[in-house]
Amino acid sequence: MGMKFSELIEARRSVRKYAKATISKDEMTKIVEEALNAPSWKNTETTRYYAAIGDDAKAKLWSDALPGFNAASSANAAALVAVSFVPGESGYMGDTPADELGEMWGAYDCGLASSYFILAAKNHGWDTLIMGIRDKAKVKSILGIPEKEVLMSVIAVGKSAQPYFKNPRKPVAEVLKVM
Ligand SMILES: Cc1cc2nc3c(=O)[nH]c(=O)nc-3n(C[C@H](O)[C@H](O)[C@H](O)COP(=O)(O)O)c2cc1C
Repeated sequence: MGMKFSELIEARRSVRKYAKATISKDEMTKIVEEALNAPSWKNTETTRYYAAIGDDAKAKLWSDALPGFNAASSANAAALVAVSFVPGESGYMGDTPADELGEMWGAYDCGLASSYFILAAKNHGWDTLIMGIRDKAKVKSILGIPEKEVLMSVIAVGKSAQPYFKNPRKPVAEVLKVM
């Protein structure tokens, strides 16, 4: 199964209204398995996924860990997936940060992995919303994320109940210099 890549990247848009749906552990596993193809610093693969697919965990995240607007946007989502990374590996040479960016390389890898994750989800027929605005401590405690991991976003995964909408983009000349 699957879409042409050019169609997939057009079709993937942040969705803020979901129809009721459930996702199986097997399908979530498949999507994360595909996301594991993302590149990472020295193949350290420090991104971790915590997928709430059950009603109780999702309800706690909606009531305690997401601001009202993100809880409303992700209502009915089949899954709320927290993504974090294990610090001290990506961007490191042994125990020492390789350069001035330090742990930012872990965040870079987590962003790349998240891109793969949302595109793989779309390719399986699931829409997504990355939510960077969340309560870190509450997300970590609800999902049992180890203290040392750095929490990035919570990604809603569900079936869209809104018309397709493309957020406009900058003209390419504003972001690209070709020498
Ligand atoms: C790191 C990151 C954090 C984001 N946080 C939120 C958020 O908290 N709430 C929200 O509604 N959208 C959030 N978004 C979605 C962006 O607003 C959205 O990707 C952007 O407007 C482009 O629209 P598109 O995804 O439909 O192409 C976030 C996106 C990223 C990459």
